[in-house]
Amino acid sequence: MSGNENCNESDRDRSGLPGWTYCSDALFDLEAEELFRRRWQFVCHANELREIGSFKTIDRVNERGFVIRDQDDKIRAFHNLCMHRGSRVLGDSEGICKRAIFCPYHGWSYNFDGTVRGIPNKDSFGDVNFSKMGLKPLEMEIWHGLIFVRFKRSNQKAVSEILARFDDETGLYKIKNMVPVKGSGWLEVLDANWKSVRDVDNEGYHVPQAHPALFDLYGQNYEDEPFVKGTSRSIGTFNGRPSKKWSVKSYRKILDNNNWLNLPKLQSCSWVYMGMFPNFVLGLYPDCVIYYYEYPLSANKTIQQGGVLKHREETRENRLARYLSGRIDRDTAREDQMLVVWSSEAVKSSAFSGICLSDLESGVKTYHDHLREILPVVRMKDEPTGKPLSQINSSLLRKELTSV
Ligand code: FES
Ligand SMILES: [Fe+2]
Repeated sequence: MSGNENCNESDRDRSGLPGWTYCSDALFDLEAEELFRRRWQFVCHANELREIGSFKTIDRVNERGFVIRDQDDKIRAFHNLCMHRGSRVLGDSEGICKRAIFCPYHGWSYNFDGTVRGIPNKDSFGDVNFSKMGLKPLEMEIWHGLIFVRFKRSNQKAVSEILARFDDETGLYKIKNMVPVKGSGWLEVLDANWKSVRDVDNEGYHVPQAHPALFDLYGQNYEDEPFVKGTSRSIGTFNGRPSKKWSVKSYRKILDNNNWLNLPKLQSCSWVYMGMFPNFVLGLYPDCVIYYYEYPLSANKTIQQGGVLKHREETRENRLARYLSGRIDRDTAREDQMLVVWSSEAVKSSAFSGICLSDLESGVKTYHDHLREILPVVRMKDEPTGKPLSQINSSLLRKELTSV
């Protein structure tokens, strides 16, 4: 079993995943399949696809997809893979297609509903049935205006079912009507395992030490609820005492005098975070909504991405508050990135003997519990050898099933 050598038997729950799980190429392959291909991945807000032909692409663990607004104003999702020779049909991360989707390789074209539209030198293909060669659709779901896709089917529930407990609270913020803030999209490539990004994000125990601005905003009023059935919620209610930093003080002053959405008392002075396993976080602020997510490129390289949504009609004060919350968030993200890299490096050190979690880090523990349930192989103290990791994991899963 996994475990920090300094945690005794009764403290086993305080041990996180063993070090090898943060640097194993074989585990990366398994995670790619089970967590990133088979589980919902966020793409963008529906209002980012403003007109017919607007598209946005998504890349995850060797999978490529895109969402597009079709002629009937309906949003559709497809694999970004030409049925001729497999080129990307959309090379840019976002844009607008005029009339059709043209593959940049040999110029096959597709309608926005994915059907084949035109084939250059069609006769040279003999009697190929092009009516069966449309783009392959992707499973897609839109929740409060947020678009999610899934590259492979799994037993994971629909997004609306997974996030059902957040429906009412999310509804307060009218996210469906929001629009993306131009230029707010950000992307960082981190030399770290993706789980280190999640571990740092899954607990607020580090806020007083690592995030001066955030601590100035919340004080001690920050609470992480554990991960339950694939979702988590954290809430930071603004400090009872006056804030010291200029940006935080100014932010709170604006919010003291404005409640643009008529939010209930608690939400009008809090930042609420909602997480969906394995990698999506939505931040509900009184002035705007933020989102972020991370995904691995390899066992030790991770991309972290995010953006900001704003209300369509924004007052001057709302705009200023959003600018200030963005400043606090930018500082926080920078501070976290350093911690992520250091945690990820640690597992390779000869001195690393596992981690030891406090009760305030239950978000990390319960997230690891989710991983241990889906990938029981991560409970092993050392990386197993001899057989492929996926095979060992499958037999552990089978054993669990038969022992129930
Ligand atoms: S690969 Fe797309 S047209 Fe040839
Ligand atoms: Fe943090």
